[in-house]
Amino acid sequence: MSINYQDRIPNNVDLGSNRTLQRALEHWQPEFLKWWEELGPKDFQVADVYLRTATSVDAKGWATYGYVRMPEYRWGIFLNERDPNRRIGFGDSFGQEVWQQIPGEYRATLRRLIVTQGDTEPASVEQQRMLGHTAPSIYDLRNLFQVNVEEGRHLWAMVYLLHAYFGRDGREEAEELLERHSGDADKPRILGTFNEPIRDWLSFFMFTYFTDRDGKFQLKSLAESSFDPLARTCQFMLTEEAHHMFVGDTGINRVVKRTLEVMKELNTDDPLAIRNAGAIDLPTVQRYLNFWLSSSLDLFGSETSSNAASYFANGLKGRPDEAQYEDHIANEQSYLLELPDGQGGTKSEQFPMRNAMNEVTRSSYVRDCEIGLKRWNRLIEKAGHGFRLTLPSTRFRRNIGNWAGVPTTPEGQPISAEQFGAQRSQWLPSESDQAYILSLMQGVSAPGKMAAWIAPPDRGINNNPVDYEYVKLQ
Ligand SMILES: [Fe+2]
Ligand SMILES: [Fe+2]
Repeated sequence: MSINYQDRIPNNVDLGSNRTLQRALEHWQPEFLKWWEELGPKDFQVADVYLRTATSVDAKGWATYGYVRMPEYRWGIFLNERDPNRRIGFGDSFGQEVWQQIPGEYRATLRRLIVTQGDTEPASVEQQRMLGHTAPSIYDLRNLFQVNVEEGRHLWAMVYLLHAYFGRDGREEAEELLERHSGDADKPRILGTFNEPIRDWLSFFMFTYFTDRDGKFQLKSLAESSFDPLARTCQFMLTEEAHHMFVGDTGINRVVKRTLEVMKELNTDDPLAIRNAGAIDLPTVQRYLNFWLSSSLDLFGSETSSNAASYFANGLKGRPDEAQYEDHIANEQSYLLELPDGQGGTKSEQFPMRNAMNEVTRSSYVRDCEIGLKRWNRLIEKAGHGFRLTLPSTRFRRNIGNWAGVPTTPEGQPISAEQFGAQRSQWLPSESDQAYILSLMQGVSAPGKMAAWIAPPDRGINNNPVDYEYVKLQ
């Protein structure tokens, strides 16, 4: 179904045919806009931003580009086309028809899954709201705002499901999605990572690389759901999500590239000398990476989980790319986990595969994270340096799951709390690292100009040159 842009709420779900639902969403819309004004990007609401807007759900050419003031962005409801032959792809009901309505017994669980996903979307906008003033270029400023408006749209995607399928409970949940706020002492966002402040652009690039990638894997799991409207919503969200990870991937790439240029100019790898030249030394990049990866790993939940097992059994949440597995029932397989033995060592234990689904997803995620690292390391290698960026072990600095609170080295070797404390500043951003990174954060607004700590991108957006005026500042 094509997208209807005549309605107040753009959509491809024939919203106009359901007056009650339409009215309910039109009632939520001003609340959303109020939230955007108060907690969306600070101070850039009247700027003309070169943004893409979804105009169809085709794999090719689904977006158009043009200058938009952010509050006038056409947030709407876009689901992938329905596949009339789609069948349940995993779990106990494998092969049966997918659901267009929610079976009563799964209502509370599905609502929780949708709310938890929905909560992350506005949370990240809140986390990033102060970054506009310190963008290293207006190319980057535009990318930040693109990510922000799309996270706003992802909130719309989840709110639509809540309103359309969960009645009054759903409407209340939709309101609460605008009431919890990132980092709020009384009403924080649901998941830890989404309450971490993002004060600088190195953190922003790490977040879009590692945390938006968690989003990708959560969406991939939900895109397998037997609840067909949820699956179709997530399938389309994934096409938008790809740009967010591109921002992180190329952002870190450009930071590394610039650092290597400075290392070459000065003929040194001394972090202090590199900092004196206004670039970011590679060990600091590694520490920020350690922080954001370990935080994002927690988002997958505990290594063993009876919830994860029942989500899978009941067909609510699958494995990312379920089709790649041979056995979609996964009732007879087991999964070997290395867990802390409580005495400073590790032990191996077999668990039923279904109970280890969080770990299955986390492992695919880690493999996906490695792709960018290979690329960044190739740059470093080509420049003739022995330093390599590495992903810390999934045991490192965990706050959720079996490794929570178990001090380990970044390689995953259990150590004492004293040893961890003594080396912490080598492994995680220290206060002085953070002060240094913050000192670099000064906005650059002339088209094509870049801050000294980051290289220009290889190309611009939508075939425009790098020095295109991506944001018209008033
Ligand atoms: Fe999102
Ligand atoms: Fe995202």
